[in-house]
Amino acid sequence: MGAAISIDCITHHYPGQEQPTLRDIRVNVSPGETVALIGQSGCGKSTLLHMLAGLLLPSEGCVRINGHQVIKPSPRWNMMFQKPSLYPWMTVRKNASLGLIFQGRKKAMQGRIDELLETVGLTDKAEVNVQSLSGGQQQRVALARSLATDPELLLLDEPFSALDAFTRVALQDEVTRLARARGISVVFVTHDIEEAVAMADRVLVMGSNPGTITAELCVDIDHPRDRNSQAFVDLKAELMGHFGATRTPPADPQQTDESRITTPEAAAQSPTAKAVAGESRKRARAA
Ligand SMILES: Nc1ncnc2c1ncn2[C@@H]1O[C@H](COP(=O)(O)OP(=O)(O)OP(=O)(O)O)[C@@H](O)[C@H]1O
Ligand SMILES: [Mg+2]
Repeated sequence: MGAAISIDCITHHYPGQEQPTLRDIRVNVSPGETVALIGQSGCGKSTLLHMLAGLLLPSEGCVRINGHQVIKPSPRWNMMFQKPSLYPWMTVRKNASLGLIFQGRKKAMQGRIDELLETVGLTDKAEVNVQSLSGGQQQRVALARSLATDPELLLLDEPFSALDAFTRVALQDEVTRLARARGISVVFVTHDIEEAVAMADRVLVMGSNPGTITAELCVDIDHPRDRNSQAFVDLKAELMGHFGATRTPPADPQQTDESRITTPEAAAQSPTAKAVAGESRKRARAA
């Protein structure tokens, strides 16, 4: 059963900062739901994810998971980062087993590791050293390790951004399939609009200075999702419009294509304007 998350009015100041990094964030995530967080670099996405993981306490407000305030990390929720952070001197099997080793459950769960390595396509690599694997294969080991402890919640911070396009798409689909099959709740941070639409049930757009939720979009498309379908393409455009609206203007307005748009007709043709002017979905709401 996936975790129910409630982010209750979080505001956060890092020491020495005038502006809060996050202001008045309120979000609920239902058990088994997948939520994407997108926003400009520095808007506070990782800060919020670290709070969900219990790695950082907010200055005001709190995170509750299944009704309990989060004050420290727990094996019931696992975080995956952009880099897989594996132990380079260990085999694939040992790295995938680490969570279980820390919990003292490794012996009882050996079959589970075999099953997970098969799920992520690494059965034939089980006994090799992780250093001999590609980046995508290493990220699969990290995924197997994250799933081995049967988490209720997966927290992913740009987990696929360092991978090539093919591996990235394969892992996006794989994580979505596994999380749905196991009913795991997922909150992930991404800069990739396609990744957000491919994986999420709901996308939260964050604005910066201070970080707030500026828009929310439901992705009501059946799985497995066809990335070429009209519904998918339309949602990507709509999300791009919301995302574009959060971007701080560049110092030199000559630097962007959109800033060179001078007539209302030309402006109406811009991708952002088209997306914003596109069908106004009931389920998208400005926060
Ligand atoms: N430990 C810290 N101490 C002080 N300021 C911090 C600390 N960690 C992050 N910040 C600041 O808080 C803001 C938000 O950082 P955060 O890493 O959450 O952004 P982000 O949205 O994840 O960015 P990116 O997309 O680049 O990863 C930034 O201005 C950053 O400089
Ligand atoms: Mg970040």
